Amino acid sequence: MPKTVLTGVQATGTPHIGNLLGAIWPMIKWVNQADQAFVFIADLHGLNSMHDPKLLRQYTLEVAAVYMAMGLDLKRAAFFRQSDVPITAELATILTNVTPKGLMDRAHSYKDVVAKNLAAGHDADLGVNMGLYNYPILMTADILLYDVDVVPVGKDQKQHLEFARDIAGYFNNMYGDVFKLPIESIREDVGLIPGLDGRKMSKSYGNQIPIFDSAAELEKKIMKIATDSLLPEDKKNPDESVIYTIYREFATPEQTTAMRNKFLNGKIGYGDAKKELFAVMNEVLAPRREVFNELMSNPDRIMAALEQGATRARPIAEATIARVRKAVGL
Ligand code: ADP
Ligand code: TRP
Repeated sequence: MPKTVLTGVQATGTPHIGNLLGAIWPMIKWVNQADQAFVFIADLHGLNSMHDPKLLRQYTLEVAAVYMAMGLDLKRAAFFRQSDVPITAELATILTNVTPKGLMDRAHSYKDVVAKNLAAGHDADLGVNMGLYNYPILMTADILLYDVDVVPVGKDQKQHLEFARDIAGYFNNMYGDVFKLPIESIREDVGLIPGLDGRKMSKSYGNQIPIFDSAAELEKKIMKIATDSLLPEDKKNPDESVIYTIYREFATPEQTTAMRNKFLNGKIGYGDAKKELFAVMNEVLAPRREVFNELMSNPDRIMAALEQGATRARPIAEATIARVRKAVGL
């Protein structure tokens, strides 16, 4: 079982139900099983794509408030902003000097942009800043600072963890055993949660259901879920239905079985199914929404919680960087 776990969270948009089911709840579970946990908002990483200071701050607050409202245990996890531990940037700078450029050339996140540029007939590096290019090095610094055992992440982050181990290995070969090599734990997929139009719920498709819309807005969104033209008495395949797929994530096992049977036997129309979906979602989310709104109207409380987390993280980061400075001769 894990000892020290760490993970970073991007703050590049308002979290939606796909993020909740695919990332936020699984992470909260991880934290509850760990001996020691670090969870931070990767705002320095965010700078490579977000150049609007107001928005970066807004998303940082929102994401922090969502985790807090959803029950992230702030006693177990040091919850902080990456930028509140500036040593991260120092370690990243040091690590650039043991990282082969070729390794960064192979990063999926960078290669994807290049491939898109070339396909559109543009210069390969159009729109690529060094923040994007060096992203894996900064992420390696995040991890190595805290002597972490396990890094829970989504599938898309697997390569970044391989790079973190590679870079730690290069450093240790050159300077002695300074870093613990981290291992990843790839989150089991809850399956991709579909959005209003049936495609993967994603802010890039604009088909998302935000976690903390008001009850009325949530209901309105749910009523907009696209359906086929089957009638209430027609038999329906629950596994192809957006309504059922989201329903089962919020409902009890008994409710889920009952809903499944109603779909299979033609005992429910889409309108009623949507009403039931709203009911189970709202039951789970309503009390949390109040906490969220309360936090969002007191941003100082959010910032104070994050600062408290940073106060716990910094001494550990300081001990590591002292080791690193000594090892390299600074
Ligand atoms: P978006 O696609 O809206 O930009 P992100 O890429 O910021 O979302 O998602 C952050 C994390 O949330 C992902 O690593 C993934 O694990 C999870 N996630 C996002 N969308 C979904 C979805 N539709 N279903 C399940 N998990 C999701
Ligand atoms: N790159 C991660 C993502 O996009 C976020 C992240 C930044 C992270 N630093 C990290 C995750 C360190 C784990 C460990 O989701």
